[in-house]
Amino acid sequence: MKKKFYITTPIYYVNASPHIGHSYTCIAADTLARYNRQILGKENVWFLTGTDEHGQKIQKASDEAKLSPQEFVDKVVVQFKELWKALDISYDDFIRTTEDRHIRTVQKVLDILHRKGDIYEDKYEGLYCTPCETFWLQSQVENQLCPDCKRPVEKIAEKNYFFKLEKYQKWLIEYINKPENAKFILPSTRQNEVLKFLQINTLSDLCISRPKERLNWGIPLPFAPGHVTYVWFDALINYISAVGEFDDKDKYHSKWWPAELHLIGKDILRQHAIYWPIILKALDIEMPKTIFAHGWWMIGEDKMSKSRGNVVNPIDIVNKFGIDVYRYFLLRDVPFGLDGNFSEGALIKRFNADLANDLGNLVYRVLTMIEKYYRGDIPLADKKIQDIKLNARGEKIKSIIKTLHQAVDASLSGECDFSLPLEKIWGLINMANKYVEETKPWNLAKENKTEELKAFIRLLVEVIRESSKELSAFMPRTAESIKAQLGSDKINKGKPLFPRIDLSSKT
Ligand code: MSP
Repeated sequence: MKKKFYITTPIYYVNASPHIGHSYTCIAADTLARYNRQILGKENVWFLTGTDEHGQKIQKASDEAKLSPQEFVDKVVVQFKELWKALDISYDDFIRTTEDRHIRTVQKVLDILHRKGDIYEDKYEGLYCTPCETFWLQSQVENQLCPDCKRPVEKIAEKNYFFKLEKYQKWLIEYINKPENAKFILPSTRQNEVLKFLQINTLSDLCISRPKERLNWGIPLPFAPGHVTYVWFDALINYISAVGEFDDKDKYHSKWWPAELHLIGKDILRQHAIYWPIILKALDIEMPKTIFAHGWWMIGEDKMSKSRGNVVNPIDIVNKFGIDVYRYFLLRDVPFGLDGNFSEGALIKRFNADLANDLGNLVYRVLTMIEKYYRGDIPLADKKIQDIKLNARGEKIKSIIKTLHQAVDASLSGECDFSLPLEKIWGLINMANKYVEETKPWNLAKENKTEELKAFIRLLVEVIRESSKELSAFMPRTAESIKAQLGSDKINKGKPLFPRIDLSSKT
């Protein structure tokens, strides 16, 4: 049995404002953190997010803003924190790579690896993409263009420090291939991708320094003060610096490490599935349990980018439709490992179908019946009521209620699937709506079948309570609001949860 759950998001670059892509990982991580808190207890879950504040991108952005890098990052980080607040992201810790605790850990790591001989000095000649801050092999580059961003790469020659990756390549392949590590990289298609890459290419050692003349904004190498640390090497270490892995030798294994789950986007798989495990192995630190790479949100066929002018600001969507609607759409519309297409039209469609017609309608009609037939008192389950025979659909509903939690748990803790458990919850909601249409409670009332009516309403109340319990990690506010309306012996009917959006009045 797992006793603790340490979950991380990538630390976001603060060179620009956060957009829906960033919010996706945080919403997914938040859902898993909330869910695990319900199961393991609040004290056994640690949810870490934060910001990646060094490197060329930040230096460039701060130059453009005519601020010092520190002033610049201090300003942008506020936008991230505000967004997480607006999206109900319940992180336990927020790490910034400019914090002392982080800098101290990075320097310690560099020192250990340098002393061990896993970091060495060499002359570097290679192809470098400045915007991506990535070195490429000649074999990876076509027409002198960066394989990621398609901008020109530069030839660079300078003295630098290198971290031995190749030394650990064989070990890594074996580690990933072990049957007990089948969940080390998920989805399994990504695991295959990493393995294939490792089998085809010999890893070049990683250049982990930048000379100060070229880049000043970074953590100085403790053994070579004329160089700062390459931003990716700096950034990955946040996952251990935040939990104090190196702070106290006696507590070498802090309470939280290893992470149960690193959630990342598919674009940063190589750094997390190759560099990071090798850094940990070289430090003799345990591996994280799972690295899960999710897909990308696209706008039509395009990536979101400032230059294309198609960046969607999550705050605009939340102001228009509400936090839970936004969370629901992102988690439901696309299986977590795949790419999705974001559009307001698609969101409104889901809103009207799933939230207004299905969930909202069920809650509203049940509250209305309790108001009408029982003056707001939720009919209690007494022995007699339980004895009433339900029809086949009623029995089916009862059995789904019993297994719903298990089904949700299997998808969430199995393959980090959010879409499937929501589909399961909606299966129950829809069946309950059908049950109402079929049973025609107004006829039961007319015919004075009071016991049948009570049993029927009881079951619907159970459906709503159970679905809302299972929904609470995905849509915390909605679950709260349902609880407030239907949580005790007497209902407290409010406005419909999700009033239908008239498509003709919104664009
Ligand atoms: N700073 C690095 C991560 C270091 S982690 C040790 C970084 N930052 S980022 O701000 O560029 O991206 C952060 C995350 O946002 C990545 O996981 C990335 O996949 C995700 N997304 C950025 N745009 C996205 C979409 N359009 N869709 C989904 N997620 C995307 O990389």
